[in-house]
Amino acid sequence: MILIDGKKISLELQSEIAVEVKELIAIGMKQPHLAAILVGDDPASQTYVSSKVKACDNVGFKSTLVRFESSVTEQTLLAKIEELNNNDDIDGYIIQLPLPRHISEQKMIEAIHPNKDVDGFHPVNVGRLVLNLPTYISATPFGIIQLLERYDIPTDGKHCVVIGRSNIVGSPMSILMSKNTTVGNCTVTLCHSHTKNLKEHTLNADIIIAAIGKPNFLTADMVKQGAVIIDVGINRVDDTSLTKGFKLVGDVSFAEVSEKASYITPVPGGVGPMTIASLLKNTLIAAKKLV
Ligand code: GUN
Repeated sequence: MILIDGKKISLELQSEIAVEVKELIAIGMKQPHLAAILVGDDPASQTYVSSKVKACDNVGFKSTLVRFESSVTEQTLLAKIEELNNNDDIDGYIIQLPLPRHISEQKMIEAIHPNKDVDGFHPVNVGRLVLNLPTYISATPFGIIQLLERYDIPTDGKHCVVIGRSNIVGSPMSILMSKNTTVGNCTVTLCHSHTKNLKEHTLNADIIIAAIGKPNFLTADMVKQGAVIIDVGINRVDDTSLTKGFKLVGDVSFAEVSEKASYITPVPGGVGPMTIASLLKNTLIAAKKLV
């Protein structure tokens, strides 16, 4: 079994981005610039955003953090989005989710100019993805593709089972794995909460991408010997032996499934660390005006 080291690959990607930024600046390009809108004081969102800002620094990007109180109105947010759309110095930006309940996330996402939507959430970018046009692939799917590519995991002609059909992971992942591309050319089965006999599908899978959000959901009896396992889950489970009172586990029952897998991503340290590298890569794509 080979453990897929997302932390290592993420750092590798970030070093490559840093080298490219230096080269681009040397030939006269401006510093790539990512902005982030953060609403309210949700601790998890604050942590995510500060990691994103710190990562920008590490690779030589400029970053701008725009903060609002959780009582901000849609109108004020839309005005800021308009301003960021028109600011030529900002190559791309994200609106950290979730937003407070009184704000429509969809309305905000649709207000972002698609060329600056480095999260890849705008319907135009989702459409471009489906049509094989230049676009921003959202952070988690992009990270998974990078992991499969960098570990040289064969996908051509394989049977890939994606579990979970979210807009952010399962659905785009199923499209990407079926594309006629180097990482792709799979026969894809997309399973979800209404799938009958899930185990029949997973037992036939060469590659399983688990994105359900249920701790330790995928067990060894559901997995074929030698399967490739990508675990997208990040679930908190109580653990009183730890001072913080919880530990993070994936959607895959790691100890038992790793005994059958040919490759497997751990949680933490697998898919999670890749998301920041993906966002930086998308920002570089934006700065180079490739979308
Ligand atoms: N909240 C959790 N994950 C994400 C993400 O990838 N992008 C944004 N904008 N918000 C998030």
